[in-house]
Amino acid sequence: MIKIVAEKVRDEAKNVRTIFFRWDQEVRAGQFIMVWLPGLGEIPMSLSYIGTPKAITVKAYGSVSQALVDMQPGQEFYIRGPYGNGFQIDPGRKLLIGGGSGMASLLPIADSETDAIISAKTKDELIFTDRFPENRIFIATDDGSAGFHGFPHELLDKLDVSVYRKIYVCGPEPMLYRVMQKLSDLNASAEFSLERTMKCGIGICDSCSVGGLQVCKQGPVFTIEQLRGNPEFGISRTTYSGKRVFLNMK
Ligand SMILES: Cc1cc2nc3c(=O)[nH]c(=O)nc-3n(C[C@H](O)[C@H](O)[C@H](O)COP(=O)(O)OP(=O)(O)OC[C@H]3O[C@@H](n4cnc5c(N)ncnc54)[C@H](O)[C@@H]3O)c2cc1C
Ligand code: FES
Repeated sequence: MIKIVAEKVRDEAKNVRTIFFRWDQEVRAGQFIMVWLPGLGEIPMSLSYIGTPKAITVKAYGSVSQALVDMQPGQEFYIRGPYGNGFQIDPGRKLLIGGGSGMASLLPIADSETDAIISAKTKDELIFTDRFPENRIFIATDDGSAGFHGFPHELLDKLDVSVYRKIYVCGPEPMLYRVMQKLSDLNASAEFSLERTMKCGIGICDSCSVGGLQVCKQGPVFTIEQLRGNPEFGISRTTYSGKRVFLNMK
């Protein structure tokens, strides 16, 4: 475990905060760390900034993520990692498709050749829209409060995806599943970063497994070919207590 001190925080949206910190460690875009708050628990987090300083961008869901969102400069937390494979970044024009806090793992890929679909349930939950020039960003909200009224896979119908060398996707699994189906129909080259229940983060407990693939070790990034036909992707997952539950695809 490495002790980290929060250097600076920035609010990205309601209940979403970026925590900047110093960590002299090389990290690839798409890799993740396990963040431990003593007395509360340990959760996986992508790095939203991988240079100096580094950062995590956290959306509050439960006790650990809420405590991170409440964190102030000078407060301490513990990390281990980096873990996972990260994205395979090819030169050329790229499209990022991020849903909610999923944009955090995609942000380190962004360069001058990158367009982004940024989506959220509603306008107030959109993050990182200020990190892309206006002509490179497409916004989608479930309720139509900003940008396109609908889901990212529906917005894809309005774009010519053949101009992109590769498409990188991260967000809730129902969104990933629908985008995967759409991009398969379009024969696009794509990588997806998955978020599953994680305990060990290093390939021992199998709580992150999706149809025989361990997200912490073999992922969290998978190619479209690896996910197509996977018997659990977009269908079911294991909870923290080990129970199998079915995903709400609404
Ligand atoms: C590889 C990886 C990278 C991740 N990167 C990020 C990141 O960069 N930023 C970030 O904010 N989160 C990220 N997550 C998700 C994050 O780990 C979870 O939000 C966190 O584990 C929640 O823990 P908790 O103790 O706060 O909430 P819990 O008490 O575990 O959960 C509270 C409730 O929220 C639900 N919930 C938990 N997580 C999610 C979720 N992601 N989506 C919808 N509902 C959820 C639970 O089912 C439960 O009902 C990542 C997950 C993985 C596997
Ligand atoms: S989190 Fe334990 S095997 Fe992946």
